[in-house]
Amino acid sequence: MIRRARPSDAPAIHALIHRYSGRDLLLPRPLTDIYERIRDFWVAVDGGQVVGCAALRIWWHDLGEVRSLAVAPEAEGHGHGARLVDAVAAEATRFGVTNLFALTRIPGWFARNGFVAIDRAVLYHKVWGDCASCPKRNACDEVAVVRALVPGAADRLISPDRHVPERVAHVVPPRAPGMAERPGLPVLPVFLHEDG
Ligand SMILES: CC(C)(COP(=O)(O)OP(=O)(O)OC[C@H]1O[C@@H](n2cnc3c(N)ncnc32)[C@H](O)[C@@H]1OP(=O)(O)O)[C@@H](O)C(=O)NCCC(=O)NCCS
Repeated sequence: MIRRARPSDAPAIHALIHRYSGRDLLLPRPLTDIYERIRDFWVAVDGGQVVGCAALRIWWHDLGEVRSLAVAPEAEGHGHGARLVDAVAAEATRFGVTNLFALTRIPGWFARNGFVAIDRAVLYHKVWGDCASCPKRNACDEVAVVRALVPGAADRLISPDRHVPERVAHVVPPRAPGMAERPGLPVLPVFLHEDG
């Protein structure tokens, strides 16, 4: 059974992610982050146990990400993974999001589930939002894949005519009063609302 996660599922989700983050297949997530984001998660339940999880992150009106996708090794191969991705895709669709992407080391599995490979550079929200601060940003071995949630949506995503927000402000985040300035802090790009 696939259902929305509840706060009481957070420890099981954390344990699942931890099983794979140790093998470098998933990014580790602190337990507090999972509680905070619990409304983003779906879980697969078998025999009363959480055996799988996946979360939706919305990046832009046409772009969502399926992340923290994991199925316990002893429960693999029963379609939990495919159903979790379908649940996340349906949720994204409910919000009007038209593309669902993932960064992954198993593009073959995603290809079986309706995703196609895409140039990671197209996912500029993700690249600036997460990848810029990732320790592996210069040696990333993940493949970007995308599933169109409405026909043709992925084509529009990769179209050279796609509107890229031009108003990208480069700002230094505010400093807490009394804190010493540290040299070398990164300047963060901030995407402003396209109409703003
Ligand atoms: C990827 C994962 C979620 C799939 O879960 P699952 O419940 O086994 O998925 P499904 O049952 O829907 O799919 C299993 C099928 O995919 C196939 N498959 C598994 N890995 C594959 C791969 N890398 N490439 C192609 N097919 C693959 C299996 O052989 C199986 O085929 P079958 O149905 O013909 O027997 C699970 O293996 C997992 O948690 N992996 C580790 C974490 C991870 O990499 N997550 C993705 C991060 S982006």
